[in-house]
Amino acid sequence: MDNKRTTTKIQELTYELKIKDVMTKNIETVGSKIPVSHLRDILYNKRISGVPIVNDNKLVGLISIEDFIKCLEQGEMDDLIEDKMTKNIKTLYADEPLVHAVMKFEKYGFGRFPVISRKDKKLIGIITKSDIIKGVLKKLETAYHDEEERRYRASHIFNDVMADEIFFKFQYYVEGKNFDRAGEAATGLKKTLYRLGLSPEIVRRAAISTYEAEINIVAFTKGGKIIAYLEPHQIRIVITDKGPGIPDVEKALQPGFSTAPGWVRELGFGAGMGLPNIKKFADKMTLRSTVEKGTRLVIIIKLSDYRNED
Ligand SMILES: Nc1ncnc2c1ncn2[C@@H]1O[C@H](COP(=O)(O)OP(=O)(O)O)[C@@H](O)[C@H]1O
Ligand SMILES: [Mg+2]
Repeated sequence: MDNKRTTTKIQELTYELKIKDVMTKNIETVGSKIPVSHLRDILYNKRISGVPIVNDNKLVGLISIEDFIKCLEQGEMDDLIEDKMTKNIKTLYADEPLVHAVMKFEKYGFGRFPVISRKDKKLIGIITKSDIIKGVLKKLETAYHDEEERRYRASHIFNDVMADEIFFKFQYYVEGKNFDRAGEAATGLKKTLYRLGLSPEIVRRAAISTYEAEINIVAFTKGGKIIAYLEPHQIRIVITDKGPGIPDVEKALQPGFSTAPGWVRELGFGAGMGLPNIKKFADKMTLRSTVEKGTRLVIIIKLSDYRNED
């Protein structure tokens, strides 16, 4: 199979797991009005690589072991933390998918991100790359077992069917602007396809593509629907919405292009990678849009690889 389209279980898990599932809770914090030297105990003895700085329950900065060592080298241990900490810190929400953390680590190159709750913006954890690795490995362990079982059940639902007209149809409605329910259609489709015994690789590609399309309906449109057809040789997913449509489809397909408004970015979306990812994971993708009318996206995922394996 074409390598660029191959998704891994790990990729799937980064969509499935939430930041709060893997982050370190019960974190040590300190106030900003104390000398840097006070951090010695936390950083060295507790082997923590970075400490969030909190005043009156409010996250005001972050100090890393690198910052601490710099102070040590320059004889600034009596300086106040607030003069040495990083102030403009990037945070993540606890309910964001892990893939957002992966993207932020790539983008900023930081070693850690404080995690805050969406409701009251309070600090509830911290996430490092090693938390991600540990969390994914743990989940892989359980997922591996389930998947092995499934492989032996590999469905042959179409094997005895002669007519090519036979298909299964699954339909999901997606509300515009409601991020509380964003992802439900993709998760529903994923479960259904797994239950039918489709190979994990195919299900993953269908689920990730559908997830990205679903997010776009929520973020950019007045609502729409997702219909997935499981046909003898392919899965065809047709995603339509009620507008406003895309003025320049070519542009929308470019990696990194996004018109996501502030409130959507605030929720952690809007990296401009949704449509490019769909293109990557699908065997075929067609995007048609009429301004004011709406958008129609068709994703095709071939089953041939799966059907030939026995
Ligand atoms: N269904 C849609 N309706 C209107 N505009 C859309 C739709 N899907 C995508 N777009 C436009 O295409 C851009 C790129 O989409 P995408 O690659 O998913 O990135 P992102 O969602 O991060 O912005 C969006 O910012 C938006 O302008
Ligand atoms: Mg998108």
